[in-house]
Amino acid sequence: MSKILITGGSGTVGTRLTTLLLQKGYQVAHLSRSNKNDNKNATPNVKNYVWDIKKGYIQPEAFENLDYIIHLAGAGVADERWTDARKKEILESRTLSTQLLCKYLAETKTPLKAFVSASAIGIYGFDTGNQLLTEESPISSQFLADVVKKWEEEVQKIALIGSQNSIRVAKLRIGIVLSNKGGALVEMAKPVRLFAGAALGTGKQHLSWIHVDDLCKMFIFAIENNNISGEYNAVGVAATTNEILTKSIAKALDKPLFLPNVPAFALNLLLGEMAGMILGGNNVSSEKIQKAGFQFDYTDLDVAVKNLI
Ligand SMILES: NC(=O)c1ccc[n+]([C@@H]2O[C@H](COP(=O)([O-])OP(=O)(O)OC[C@H]3O[C@@H](n4cnc5c(N)ncnc54)[C@H](OP(=O)(O)O)[C@@H]3O)[C@@H](O)[C@H]2O)c1
Repeated sequence: MSKILITGGSGTVGTRLTTLLLQKGYQVAHLSRSNKNDNKNATPNVKNYVWDIKKGYIQPEAFENLDYIIHLAGAGVADERWTDARKKEILESRTLSTQLLCKYLAETKTPLKAFVSASAIGIYGFDTGNQLLTEESPISSQFLADVVKKWEEEVQKIALIGSQNSIRVAKLRIGIVLSNKGGALVEMAKPVRLFAGAALGTGKQHLSWIHVDDLCKMFIFAIENNNISGEYNAVGVAATTNEILTKSIAKALDKPLFLPNVPAFALNLLLGEMAGMILGGNNVSSEKIQKAGFQFDYTDLDVAVKNLI
C-alpha cells in the first residue's frame, strides 16, 4: 500500500482527492498548518502531520515510509483582496512551502517515487483572448503568472535532489475547478439561487474549467504513470465562457436569469486588481495530457454542473 502525503489536503481539491485515493487503497496522510487528528475536522483513516512554513518546520514522521507527495497547499488566490501583504502570502505560501519540502526531502534522503504539484493556468495570464494555450505558450507578466512561475521553479528543484535517482516531478496547471465544496461554482451559484445571477463583464471571456473528479483522477494518473513528468494543463476538453457557465448553473438550479451583466467597472471597484482574473480569461488546451493517455469523465459542461449542483 503506497503512502501519499498531501499538503493542503484539507482544501477543496485535497478533500475529494483523499476520498478517491482511499477508495483505491492508498494510505493517505495530510500535511497541514493545524493539528486536526483529535478534533471534529479530522478525516477518518487519514493521519494529519503539521508544518510551520514560516518557522521552517515539518513534523519529521511525515516522511516515514513515504512514496509520493501531492503538493496542493497555498493561500487562496480569490479569498481576499490583493493587498501587498496578501500578495506576499499568496506567493510565499507556495514558494517557501516548496523550498521547505525540498530541504526535508534532501535531509531525510526520502526515496520518493514522485512529487506531483498543483500549478495554475494563471501562468498564461488572463489577457490572451481566443488564443489556444498549450504548455509551450509564453508566460505572462501578470501578478498571478509571476507567482506560478516562481512556484514551478521551486517545484522543479525537487527533481535535482539526490545524485543517482532523481525524483520524478509533475506539475498540473489547474484551470477553474468545478466543485460543490468551494470555489467558482459555489460562488457563482449563490446569486443565481437568490434570483440575482448575471454574467460578469462581457460574459464572453473564456473559462477553462475542469470537474473536480477529473482533476483528482488526473493527480492519480500522474502518480501512477512513470512517463508523466513536467508541465500539463489540467483543464477539460474545451473551455466555455462566463456567460455559458452562468446559464448552465441557472438551468441546473431551475432559476431564471433576467439581470443585465455585472459591469466591469463595478467588479474593478469591488475587487481591485483581482478583477482582471474574472473579467479576463484564457482558452487552455488539455491535448498534452490526453495524448499521454488521460481520459475525462466530464466532457459536457451541463452534465458536469448538473452532477455537482
Ligand atoms: N480550485 C481552483 O479552481 C484552482 C485553480 C487553479 C489552481 N488551484 C491550486 O490548487 C491547489 C488546491 O486548490 P484548492 O481549491 O483545493 O485550494 P483550497 O481549498 O484553498 O485549499 C488549499 C489548502 O492549502 C492550505 N493553505 C491555505 N492557506 C495557506 C497558507 N497561507 N500557507 C500554507 N498553506 C495554506 C490549507 O490547508 P491547511 O489549512 O490544512 O494547512 C488549504 O486547505 C491550490 O494551490 C490552488 O492555488 C486551484
